[in-house]
Amino acid sequence: MHVPEELLARLREHRQEHLLAHWDNLEDPEREHLLGELEEVDFAKILSLYGRRKERVGALAAHNLRPLDFLKLADQSASQISRWERTAAGEFRAGRVAALLVAGGQGTRLGHNGPKGSFPFAIPSGRTLFELQALRLLNLGRRFGKPVPWLVMTSPINDADTRAFFAEHGFFGLDPKDVFFFSQGQLPAVGEDGRLLLEAPDQLALVPDGNGGVFAALARSGGLDWLKARGVKSVFLYSVDNAIVRVCDPALLGFHVESGKAVTCPVVRKAGPGERVGIFVDTDEGSCVAEYSDISEEMRNAADERGHLLYDGANLAIHVLDVGVLQDAAEQALPYHSAFKRVPWCREDGTIVLPEKENAWKFEQFMFDVFPRFGKMAALEVERSDWFSPIKNSSGNDSPATAIRMMLDLHSRWLVEAGVLAPDDPRKFEISPLWSYAGENLRGRTISELLEKGAVVQA
Ligand code: UTP
Repeated sequence: MHVPEELLARLREHRQEHLLAHWDNLEDPEREHLLGELEEVDFAKILSLYGRRKERVGALAAHNLRPLDFLKLADQSASQISRWERTAAGEFRAGRVAALLVAGGQGTRLGHNGPKGSFPFAIPSGRTLFELQALRLLNLGRRFGKPVPWLVMTSPINDADTRAFFAEHGFFGLDPKDVFFFSQGQLPAVGEDGRLLLEAPDQLALVPDGNGGVFAALARSGGLDWLKARGVKSVFLYSVDNAIVRVCDPALLGFHVESGKAVTCPVVRKAGPGERVGIFVDTDEGSCVAEYSDISEEMRNAADERGHLLYDGANLAIHVLDVGVLQDAAEQALPYHSAFKRVPWCREDGTIVLPEKENAWKFEQFMFDVFPRFGKMAALEVERSDWFSPIKNSSGNDSPATAIRMMLDLHSRWLVEAGVLAPDDPRKFEISPLWSYAGENLRGRTISELLEKGAVVQA
């Protein structure tokens, strides 16, 4: 087997002949595999991203950043919230709502060997993130008499493991017909010197192309057609790692539908100027998210006369989108953000290097870069303790330990509010999302009854 002349010429033109360093030692099937991978690479595109790796893209490139205005959920009357929930109920009953999970990340900071959604983070029930989300969807499906379709984006790295995990767990009680898996794209990792890396003698080092890859991958996979065929109008797009995510929250969906905006986001107040989260801003182009590093020190600390931070609407990576946004976004070329990361690679002598420090550039699209196209978004401020507990790190902030604590505090609060537990009861309980989506269905029960029915587990 030979390397086609045309490919050889392209490798030379882009100074990438080292990718064939192991050719003579490869068997034919391995050669075939490597050729297949190399044929797929758009060298001009990846090297142009490498050339622009230090440029800023996204919100900072936009003009006139201003804080985004948002409504506060806590200021809304009970009748307003019930109205949103009634609007949402009509949407659920008509099958017009779906959940879209982006779970193609590598979760390197957490370091779990497998999809992050399958991480057993030691809550009393032993449930995983995937299961918690599935049970909330099952709860809503039963409440409204219509299953809520669930789209799950994986990457080529975790696709097989994710599908196997769902199958091993009987799809957590969901009907497999209501779940659509699809895999995002990947791009080659580029070494510091502009040369693409091999991960094995016959394998390029490829990394997922960022959660913004969701739009193109959804269209390419047939997921968008699947949604349209089911009559879905609003999609709840979210990240896998928020342990208390209120998947398809009815009040938020009702607010979205009534706002008439194409994009709606829940927002929490930043814990302080130094919290490293993206924040919502308005720009001359439209609303979007500015990353922590996109905001100057001065803007981070800017406050009104009462001392309240001006730029403090933090992004929870939860977005409600009209289906038309998904269609339009699939046709857009989103910018790529670059990051210098540790990527294992294969030396020319065949040894594999697990680098101790950053050695390669990876290029990612972010889902929020699509927002400015859709003008001003609707935003609703919610309580962090009700909505947001991400698992990013293996310890410290945003870790399994903080998520367990926040979830147990939240569930115990619901039990106290429902009069099931006395406020000074020191015991902690986890509530099944199938029994109670967000604190309902508890009033008038006793804790022993809930324990017996499997509705709660004691910590
Ligand atoms: P993060 O930015 O936290 O990245 O992803 P990560 O890959 O999960 O974790 P680290 O940075 O390696 O530790 C936020 C969300 O976007 C998804 C993740 O699965 C998570 O739900 N994501 C990220 C993708 O779906 N694809 C990607 O290429 C990157």
